[in-house]
Amino acid sequence: MGQRRVPAFQTERFMRRFASFSEIGQTKDGAIHRPFGSDADLAARAWLMRLAEEVGLSVSVDAIGNIWGVLPGRIDQGAIVIGSHHDSVPDGGRFDGPLGVLMGIEVIQSLQESGYPNEHPLAFVSFTAEEPNPFDLSTLGSRSVAGRLTHEKLLAATDWNGRPLREAVDAAGGDLQAFATVRKTANDIAAFLELHIEQGRRLETRDIPIGLVTGICGIYRESIRATGEANHAGTTRLEDRRDALLASSEMLLAVERMLTAWNDDEIIATIGRLNVIPNAMNIIPGECEWSLEIRGGDMARVYSFRDACIEAFDEIAARRGVRYQRQLLLDQQPQPMAADVVDVLHSAAADFAIPYLDLASMAGHDATHIASFTRAGMVFVPSIGGKSHCKEEESRIEDIEHAFYVLAAASIALDSKLTSGGEIAHEETV
Ligand code: HGY
Ligand code: MN
Ligand code: MN
Repeated sequence: MGQRRVPAFQTERFMRRFASFSEIGQTKDGAIHRPFGSDADLAARAWLMRLAEEVGLSVSVDAIGNIWGVLPGRIDQGAIVIGSHHDSVPDGGRFDGPLGVLMGIEVIQSLQESGYPNEHPLAFVSFTAEEPNPFDLSTLGSRSVAGRLTHEKLLAATDWNGRPLREAVDAAGGDLQAFATVRKTANDIAAFLELHIEQGRRLETRDIPIGLVTGICGIYRESIRATGEANHAGTTRLEDRRDALLASSEMLLAVERMLTAWNDDEIIATIGRLNVIPNAMNIIPGECEWSLEIRGGDMARVYSFRDACIEAFDEIAARRGVRYQRQLLLDQQPQPMAADVVDVLHSAAADFAIPYLDLASMAGHDATHIASFTRAGMVFVPSIGGKSHCKEEESRIEDIEHAFYVLAAASIALDSKLTSGGEIAHEETV
């Protein structure tokens, strides 16, 4: 692969676009609030489509609202796709998602401007609803593309206020009736690359500018609803209470105690959402709903950890006279990245003498689903202070520049290797 053919990074252009996109959904505190289905989500979509059209890409929105922008190639083959997502967690940061989407556009535009004669179509994608959202459907766009969601499930889905998913997908320019058309195969996407912030401190700690992802962890999520008895806060004696919040609190602390006892670097669990019902100062909470999320590289250990949690919850519930119900939200298997794509990324980094670290991701990404049916790889840039899913999220432009060169060189290498036939393999894992 030749560095010669890789165009220079247009730092100023990229930073200008990034700053402008970061205004969409920005709160007065400087956080980004751009969840799927929000006005900010819609504004972000309009912004991206306008830019992609200005750049001269052929823009389309698929049935689930994913945005695609294609630069045709000389041969009618699967595209080399670069992208990520544009939605954010509540009060999140500027980089998680948009960095990869804007870099997709930047790489394609730069290659086009340099006169690079791409054989394969080059495309960027911005996936719908990567983050958890009020519809309880994260990675909605990439899971749909990978055929990992059913039409029936989506037709029945509503948000916490009863708004049908169909309505939000319509507003995003999709059409749930046409859901069958959203599925893609390795014939459509020859290779997928995603740039993302690391969201941890492994790169920063080692002072390495680029991470090349070898695999993405599994993620397991349940919603748990504890039911006790609502009653008067003044008149109900301690021994007569069935307090759903206190029972839940004991369960949450049991999860933390178990994490400490397991002392396993490959397992982590989080209770990130908690709703006290009815949430009033003078009512003993009759219900309490919360999320349990467990992540790990090995699902057998994730399931054992879950089972240990449930055993502890059963004991707590029985002792406190509270019942609880569980609803499975996500059971996402770990996913290796394509070894051959990782090799191409290694060579690209080596060509530019950019130091890199191979690492596994404990964050979830759209690439996990795309890798289930075609070749996929991911590039990480360091997160300053390891901060992510908060407004302090930040990465250095120098590192982003390194990522541009790795992605542009890898795109060129994939374009030629995939054309010359079969050197790069992939295994379907669905
Ligand atoms: O939750 C995750 O790991 C991702 O950032 N969506
Ligand atoms: Mn995220
Ligand atoms: Mn992300």
